[in-house]
Amino acid sequence: MTHKIILDTDPGIDDAMAIFFAFQAKEIDVLGLTTVYGNVPVEMAAQNALSLVELAGLDIPVCKGVGRPWVGPESTYAHFVHGDDGFGNIDHPPSSRTLDPRSSAQFIIDKAREFPGEITIVAVGPLGNLALALRLEPELPKLIKAVNIMGGAAFVPGNVTPVAEANIWNDAHAADIVFSADWTINMFGLDVTYDVPFAPQFIDTLAEVNPILGGFVAKASQFYMEFYSQGKDEQVCFFHDAYPIAHLMHPELFEMTNGNMRIGTGELDKGQTMFAPANTTMSPLWLESQKSNVATQVDHEALTELFVSTYAL
Ligand code: BDR
Ligand code: CA
Repeated sequence: MTHKIILDTDPGIDDAMAIFFAFQAKEIDVLGLTTVYGNVPVEMAAQNALSLVELAGLDIPVCKGVGRPWVGPESTYAHFVHGDDGFGNIDHPPSSRTLDPRSSAQFIIDKAREFPGEITIVAVGPLGNLALALRLEPELPKLIKAVNIMGGAAFVPGNVTPVAEANIWNDAHAADIVFSADWTINMFGLDVTYDVPFAPQFIDTLAEVNPILGGFVAKASQFYMEFYSQGKDEQVCFFHDAYPIAHLMHPELFEMTNGNMRIGTGELDKGQTMFAPANTTMSPLWLESQKSNVATQVDHEALTELFVSTYAL
């Protein structure tokens, strides 16, 4: 079975790794990349996405999306994690490709209308494009099969604040709109993506089995790995954004827990994914909120094999 996806992204090094993973997977049909600010400003995210499509030798649309949070000032970016260029300062040449003229939100709506009920949106950056698409087309949830999100931290600490993960924290009001809509949400947060690190050999293996795409990931990841390895005896790395794609291909690798979700939008709880698994609360504040499926376990060894074998195709 082939899964049609739109990949909503802020490339970003683990975004690049996930994008190539999706391109390589024969079960995944990437209809387009929609970009959003997050790791880097949106202009850079869009240009980086074009570079990745070009490097992969594909011809799929890339759209530019929202450049700042739903509420409040322009965000700070994660150049300290992803480098000044979003690719670990590797001097990758700019792409000669051009952007699709549509906004990311409009592209999502157009494709949803073209393929009603068939598309899974894989969102691996802040959720402003999805929130805007919901506002522009209130019927969107009826047209979309599912939304697979990399973001949040249900039962573990956050990575930006003690309670919030970066993608949700970066646009908490947008996340609140997205998690409150009546569609199927599968959330892959730090509970699984920050669970077991990847050793440097993993990146070397990606480069060996796929010198162009894996080679790019290996080169870009050196800076990223330095960030994740601070204060540790051994070098480690995390590839958050590939998990929601892996779930489409092999759902049996994940344990999912269903429950009601609330998103914090206050000062202290900004971006917190406050999750109540089924039958754990009587509070109407949660029982009247939408439900999500949250990944709570992953078979890390099988996942690693899946990444490598898919890069090797
Ligand atoms: C998420 O934040 C970004 O830095 C990564 O690309 C990933 O989407 C992890 O918290
Ligand atoms: Ca990302």
